Amino acid sequence: MRHGFWDFTLPNVWIASEPGVAGLLQDGSYSGNIAELSPKAQNVLALLEVTGCLRAEERGDYSYAEVGLMIEHMTIAWHGLYYSHPVWNRLRSGELGRNGFVAWVLHNYHLSRSAGATAARGVLRSPTGAIRRLFLESALEEYSHCEDYYCIDDARLGVSESDCRAYIPLPSSLALDQQMHRLAEFDWLGHAMVGFIQESTASYYKKCCEFYSLVESKYGLPGFFDGWKQHILLDLKYGHASAFKDAIVEMGNASISQDALLKSLNGAAIMVHFLIGALDEILQEDAFSSEVRLRRPVVQLDIDFDVNALLRRFSFVPKPEGNQKQQPGNGSDLMASKLLVPKERIPPLEEWTSEESSFLIHEIAMSTLTALSHSQSHEEIIGLGKVVECLKTTLRDSVESMQFYSQSPRAVAIANFLREEAPRPKTYCLVIRLLSELLSFESLGATRSLSSVITHEFSVHILGSQFEKELPSQVLIWARLCEFAKFSTNLAVPHNPFC
Ligand SMILES: [Fe+2]
Repeated sequence: MRHGFWDFTLPNVWIASEPGVAGLLQDGSYSGNIAELSPKAQNVLALLEVTGCLRAEERGDYSYAEVGLMIEHMTIAWHGLYYSHPVWNRLRSGELGRNGFVAWVLHNYHLSRSAGATAARGVLRSPTGAIRRLFLESALEEYSHCEDYYCIDDARLGVSESDCRAYIPLPSSLALDQQMHRLAEFDWLGHAMVGFIQESTASYYKKCCEFYSLVESKYGLPGFFDGWKQHILLDLKYGHASAFKDAIVEMGNASISQDALLKSLNGAAIMVHFLIGALDEILQEDAFSSEVRLRRPVVQLDIDFDVNALLRRFSFVPKPEGNQKQQPGNGSDLMASKLLVPKERIPPLEEWTSEESSFLIHEIAMSTLTALSHSQSHEEIIGLGKVVECLKTTLRDSVESMQFYSQSPRAVAIANFLREEAPRPKTYCLVIRLLSELLSFESLGATRSLSSVITHEFSVHILGSQFEKELPSQVLIWARLCEFAKFSTNLAVPHNPFC
């Protein structure tokens, strides 16, 4: 039997001699009377239980004490997947090149940067005083860790503090940060779960320290991880992981429905999916270049795309415009979607599954409503108001149920990106305008009229000439959306404790 880090082998002869054990190993659960098992079989059952190898019993609802145990068990499976990723051995052996190494340490910096901000969001949105206090303490403890422990300023790597701060996070680093924000905002249980998953890594303190020391020596960077080692000690001292689990268990006699529990587990599993996705991207950064090439903001387009960390997946397509020769970076029409064509095809919305597209349309509707609620100028209010009007049927459904749920990483990543940009109406309009180009809103009946309203209202009235000037932000948003649209459509991480 394999589960997480665990690999169990039992002698066939013994299994055959123990009635009930063969069924237990086959089904992953035991429904008989435990007292009828032999003491040895009871011990095996207890071992399988504590290591999370058994399926949870399927019922209509659960106590929070049971939820706490299920999360512990799921965390074993998630950590097992995460730590079996090939990147770890490549770090251990020093095979991962400098560019991959830098991408990995900066990914950790971004993880630490997100901790204080997501905890702060959790304070504002959690249901009970005790949980709000927990997230407040977490926000206070965590916000400075990106500066105190993870920010890189190391001449040996050729990465300065300003490089570190400006580095554009890997797509999955951003996606997981935004998934944390989503959970913090709408799903305190999912947020507490991911807090538990992340902080419980500290329980491998000794192994982590050995690993860091080994990696330091392989990369010739003595002392590089001193801050990281101190940081794990801090997590242990504050008991972060147990605090998250305690918060769940301390919900006391309240119960949660299976449906709600599965939604929170799904939300947490999506975060784990992005966490693992970031490791895949680190390997891609490594394959891209052996020397360090940072993902810096792009200011001009007259650069070599093939060696640029952000633009290497695009071809530059000059705008055909009479005799006027279009040079990258100096044109009048700087719309990123026209100039930067992804080398790999991105499927339009009409090719998405109906579950994904209807989820995304609901999310666009809710985010546009959020953007309208933050609008101040006349143009923003009228333009976003017209889009809201266009989506009124969807919105009437959305506000009725407030259920927003998808298992598609690409749909969730794009939806979260919209949600996070919505409080800045101008940028949001830019995002949605580029998204409508990327996913060809015109190709799908449900978004066809939306496309023309967005093009007209946003381009002409809200963004205007500013739209053409904002090349760096356009390029970044366009690159982001293209990266997210390339995410998989299926969750690659288990989220159901019943199977
Ligand atoms: Fe921290």
